[in-house]
Amino acid sequence: MAADLSVQFTGLTFENPFLLSSAPPTASESNILRAFESGWGGVVTKTIGLHPVVNVAGPKTKFLRASAESNEISMRKLPNAALHSSWNWELISTKPLEWWVPRIERIKAAHPTKMLIASIMAGSGSDKELAHWQELAVACQEAGADGLELNLSCPHMDRADMGSNIGKDAGLCSIVTQVVKEVATIPVWSKLTPATGDIVVEAAAVFRGGADAVVSSNTFPSLPLIDPETLEFEVNVEGLVSSGGLGGPAIMPLSLAKMAQMTNAFPDKSFSGIGGVSEFAHALNYLLLGCGTVQVCTSAMLDRAVGPNVIRRLNDGLAEFLDRHAEQGWTSVEDFRGIRRERVVANSQIQRPDESEYFGGHDDAEGYAPASAA
Ligand SMILES: Cc1cc2nc3c(=O)[nH]c(=O)nc-3n(C[C@H](O)[C@H](O)[C@H](O)COP(=O)(O)O)c2cc1C
Repeated sequence: MAADLSVQFTGLTFENPFLLSSAPPTASESNILRAFESGWGGVVTKTIGLHPVVNVAGPKTKFLRASAESNEISMRKLPNAALHSSWNWELISTKPLEWWVPRIERIKAAHPTKMLIASIMAGSGSDKELAHWQELAVACQEAGADGLELNLSCPHMDRADMGSNIGKDAGLCSIVTQVVKEVATIPVWSKLTPATGDIVVEAAAVFRGGADAVVSSNTFPSLPLIDPETLEFEVNVEGLVSSGGLGGPAIMPLSLAKMAQMTNAFPDKSFSGIGGVSEFAHALNYLLLGCGTVQVCTSAMLDRAVGPNVIRRLNDGLAEFLDRHAEQGWTSVEDFRGIRRERVVANSQIQRPDESEYFGGHDDAEGYAPASAA
């Protein structure tokens, strides 16, 4: 019997748990159609806003590679180099809402069983700005989107009331999620920034606002490296650069740490994991920590723009994994989802060679006999 790759996530049925995340692979109708034809279970559209967007002059995304021979990490072409990360300072979709609405309608008409999640973004500094979230949400859901993803996480917005600046403010996280939930009839996912001290605080805030799921990670704030010969940043416009976002293999362990914090704090909530995935073994980490779906950007960008080979490897890998564990009675993702979540514990819970000498970093309590004397 063929393995059942499908998952239920926030009330939606995905034919497999793998989605293209909000980024260039989902920035056009033709890309999204190709993505669905390639086998992705869902896509999250490039983030849609209300205001016109103009990107920087010059490249918006570059890829860093690491050489095993020379220890170099660079955007230059290096011999025998492995992908290290992507770096980007691309803004949200340059296409307005009016452009997206008929396309969402057409894509859903062509692929009614594939899941199309609309990523949206507005400001949060006034009631008018909050109403923009509702306008975007209603337009996308009326066009047929299956769900909404709130971009509370873009790392390179100058405005203090947008993108990751919302994601860094628990109050705004809650309010924005709540205003969208007031008008939404479809599931609402909140995509958080990893650039905070304790992401559990913001996750709690969006769940208080009614979020059906938390999505993480967006890219990590970062700079391109400086070329040691020219002393110029490897990406710059007339010598200048601003902080951008790091994605790809380099962020996977970082993103997993954030995810484990949240899935442990909220074991009954829904999570969609992103960061560095190109193989099933990578996606498996997110599933074992409790995620119900996994999203992909960088590796898909490098594989014919929408990742046809990446999704084939993910689906084949999951099918093979379920086959291999059939004797354990595992027939779907739900049977093994989260089984490594509780293995992530406080450092003090990790065994010591000599427990009697260990007080968790504290002095032995004064006035009491040493634990070993008991
Ligand atoms: C060029 C580029 C553009 C992106 N644009 C968006 C966006 O519009 N909205 C969003 O929520 N995330 C955006 N992202 C973040 C990705 O969706 C994803 O969260 C991040 O790249 C980490 O995944 P990865 O390691 O698979 O690349 C973008 C990423 C890249 C590289």
